[in-house]
Amino acid sequence: SVLEARSMEAVAKYIKQNDVKRIVLMVGAGISTSAGIPDFRSPDTGLYANLAFLDLEEPEDVFDITFFRENPKPFYALGMLLKHFTQNIDCLERQAGVPGEMIVEAHGSFASQRCIECKTPYPDEEMHKMVDQGKVPRCGCGGYVKPDIVFFGEALPSSFFENRSLPAAADLCIVMGTSLSVQPFASLPSLVSDGVPRVLINMQKVGGMGSRPDDVLLLGDCDAGVRKFAKAMGWEEELEALWGG
Ligand code: OAD
Repeated sequence: SVLEARSMEAVAKYIKQNDVKRIVLMVGAGISTSAGIPDFRSPDTGLYANLAFLDLEEPEDVFDITFFRENPKPFYALGMLLKHFTQNIDCLERQAGVPGEMIVEAHGSFASQRCIECKTPYPDEEMHKMVDQGKVPRCGCGGYVKPDIVFFGEALPSSFFENRSLPAAADLCIVMGTSLSVQPFASLPSLVSDGVPRVLINMQKVGGMGSRPDDVLLLGDCDAGVRKFAKAMGWEEELEALWGG
């Protein structure tokens, strides 16, 4: 096994001694919850647990393209017009300073929108106006307009498939704040080569994480896990300065 122990300190040592510089991250909603954005599946606070008022048969219908065609109202009732391999559509990583070209928004983002029928882009200002007025935006062709986030029943953006082979070339993988329950994203950690450490920072154990000899599990809060990682690397002050603003 590559690591001396299944600990963050051992990972830090691995990074320093092996000149590690091809790290991949795979993240989900859990990394944004401390910024006040709910995840999907946490029992009381998750989005899916709080959609009772929408009267859906399945909470996931709110992001189902067939359902949206028939009834786009529940999606717009959410009022969610906010703005690495991320499943997140909140653009927070970009805002936190990660360069755009480093991010694969596997489930799209709220940064743009278009007609679901003719695919014509729809202007940002119009979008904001319509949503502010509680109206469903429609294209000139009559089709409904939807933010460029990937709904169930839709293909992931080409950037996901173009970059999908990268995990195999990684020398460290960090999976953070995701239940790894939605494919094909959920398979990314399995594409990391054998003998390459994989770190999971999450409330619970998810996916196959922990099944390999060099898997490190930091079960708990993302921020606490990141702090622990930074401390082991000697980056604690830098991190606190960043977080302190
Ligand atoms: P989930 O809500 O399924 O999973 C979030 C994970 O993060 C869970 O395991 C939580 O326990 C954990 N978590 C929450 N807050 C945390 C914190 N502060 N610290 C550590 N862990 C925390 O969200 P995703 O895995 O991102 O897709 O969901 C994947 C996809 O399902 C989404 O991109 C979305 C959704 O349906 C589409 O809409 C296509």
